[in-house]
Amino acid sequence: MIAVVTGASSGFGQEYVRQFDSRGYDEIWVIARRKERLEALSSEVNTPLRPIALDLSEEEAIRSFSGLLEQEKPQIHALVNASGFGYFDAFTEQPLNDALNMVDLNDKALISLCYLCIPYMKEGSEIYNIASSSAFQPVPYIGVYPEFQKIKIEK
Ligand SMILES: NC(=O)c1ccc[n+]([C@@H]2O[C@H](COP(=O)([O-])OP(=O)(O)OC[C@H]3O[C@@H](n4cnc5c(N)ncnc54)[C@H](OP(=O)(O)O)[C@@H]3O)[C@@H](O)[C@H]2O)c1
Repeated sequence: MIAVVTGASSGFGQEYVRQFDSRGYDEIWVIARRKERLEALSSEVNTPLRPIALDLSEEEAIRSFSGLLEQEKPQIHALVNASGFGYFDAFTEQPLNDALNMVDLNDKALISLCYLCIPYMKEGSEIYNIASSSAFQPVPYIGVYPEFQKIKIEK
């Protein structure tokens, strides 16, 4: 039985890995771009970690992860989607690519990981999607990040 944690090289994701150490998983698959940080985390926990270096904003990475699941057919007990970032600036000052990259990672990758992992999860398994309370309250300069924000045009 395994856990899959994205964003495991830092912040929430890394802390989930530490907290999951007492759960007795056979392995925790840890995903982020910085492989050296994923590998370094192994020295902090007793559970075997499988570092998987992927840029989850890229479709090829999602295909690669899908292939790994098909190959290994793991029983996944927990999925943590903690990879993500927020670009804070006036909407029109944000480079379009950065705004779209945020959607690719925060939204599309999260949906893909849920979609791909659920077939390998039994009843009672867990998914933790790390999101932001700013999806529920208007905050200036983070219009794209929480997706659901009302954007007021000011000129
Ligand atoms: N911290 C807060 O107070 C707070 C509050 C509300 C919401 N959030 C949200 O919760 C999420 C996690 O926050 P955090 O504080 O843990 O952030 P963090 O410390 O910056 O960690 C973000 C993680 O996402 C990974 N990541 C970034 N881009 C990636 C990519 N393209 N592909 C794969 N992995 C990628 C990073 O790893 P690599 O750089 O190694 O790829 C890192 O492990 C974010 O979406 C954040 O906006 C945070």
